[in-house]
Amino acid sequence: MSTALKNKEQPFRMIAKTLFGLEEILSRELADLGASKLKTMNRSVEFYGDKQLLYEANLWCRTATRILKPFTSFKAANENELYHKVSNIEWGKYLDIEQTFAIDAVITKSQFTNSLYVAQKTKDAIVDQFRRTSGRRPSVELNNPDIRINVYIYKNECRLAIDSSGEPLFKRGYRRKTGKAPLNEVLAAGIVMQSEWDKKSSFVDAMCGSGTIVIEAALLARNMAPGLTRKQFSFMNWPDYDQQMYDLICEKAREAVIPELNFEMLAADLREAAVYDSQDNAKEAGVVENITFKHCAIKDLIPPESPGVLIINPPYGERISTIKNEIEELYQSIGDAFKRNFTGYDAFVFTGNLDAAKKIGLRTSRRIQMYNGSIECRLLKFEMYQGSRKQN
Ligand SMILES: C[S@@+](CC[C@H](N)C(=O)[O-])C[C@H]1O[C@@H](n2cnc3c(N)ncnc32)[C@H](O)[C@@H]1O
Repeated sequence: MSTALKNKEQPFRMIAKTLFGLEEILSRELADLGASKLKTMNRSVEFYGDKQLLYEANLWCRTATRILKPFTSFKAANENELYHKVSNIEWGKYLDIEQTFAIDAVITKSQFTNSLYVAQKTKDAIVDQFRRTSGRRPSVELNNPDIRINVYIYKNECRLAIDSSGEPLFKRGYRRKTGKAPLNEVLAAGIVMQSEWDKKSSFVDAMCGSGTIVIEAALLARNMAPGLTRKQFSFMNWPDYDQQMYDLICEKAREAVIPELNFEMLAADLREAAVYDSQDNAKEAGVVENITFKHCAIKDLIPPESPGVLIINPPYGERISTIKNEIEELYQSIGDAFKRNFTGYDAFVFTGNLDAAKKIGLRTSRRIQMYNGSIECRLLKFEMYQGSRKQN
């Protein structure tokens, strides 16, 4: 996406946070938006750009969870030094006394051990400065504050950033209804992008649950910015918020939407309520017209014509309690369905149950390590050409 918006501001440093395994994909998304000096790190990507890019990154990045704007860093050996150095920052530049705020603290390999205490000390230093200078103080609000400050401490290096997103970016705003184990929207988008689906052949999620995977795929195919359904980003509360610029970016994003798709997208689930939920969510996301919904088991699902991509996120057995045999039978039936009905498809299984996945009984052509929350998962690829070979 490129816009013709003009902006002469000096580029500044930003950090896009993401989930494990999605760093390279996020880096490509940012490069497409015009980010420079990209540096891929663990669960994050550093980049440079201007205010316009900061707004666009929030609106467009499918695999970013937050966009941070670092504004200072310093060394601190203990909490008192942290308090002192935070007190030296001119907080009136970032926070108005009438605004609410919250501190998120993350600590890695540090003599600081308690992130809550670090957040508390930082908060104390900020409110004490306001009290000293004006006799009043801004209020802390943990849920939905106006301004979020991110404190990251690595060893004794402290980096302070202002969080431009606020609510994490996976909260797209379209998912009103969920089943038992819905995927985070950023993870679902990342899975679709990992599959390298060409956005012009058939797409199927045969175990759709609340529909996150197929909705993210439809948003991608229609070039719909994932943030367009969201009403609020934290940068809207910043003193330099340029509403005209943001409105123009949104207008361009709406113009960039591909109105129709000329291939089939199919979502199905064994549970009838899941089919209704995913349909409602797709309606909220603005893609319900692009997806056919079916209530059936994977073994009975007849997919649209190949070539195509199938992605499923079956129950793992850990999060949805089912006895071991049932889970193994389910994974076996997945392998049978792939062989019987999905010839010509690239079939992907995203699972945290690697033992059960062996029961699929087909050879994988790719295995990508990812996490679903704290559960280590794999995205397994099976190429279902005629006569797919058995696993060794
Ligand atoms: C982990 S959930 C999927 C969550 C989904 N990715 C989301 O983001 O909401 C697994 C889904 O598989 C469905 N399921 C279980 N066995 C099935 C089968 N044999 N055929 C089709 N769907 C099945 C369940 O009803 C459940 O909705």
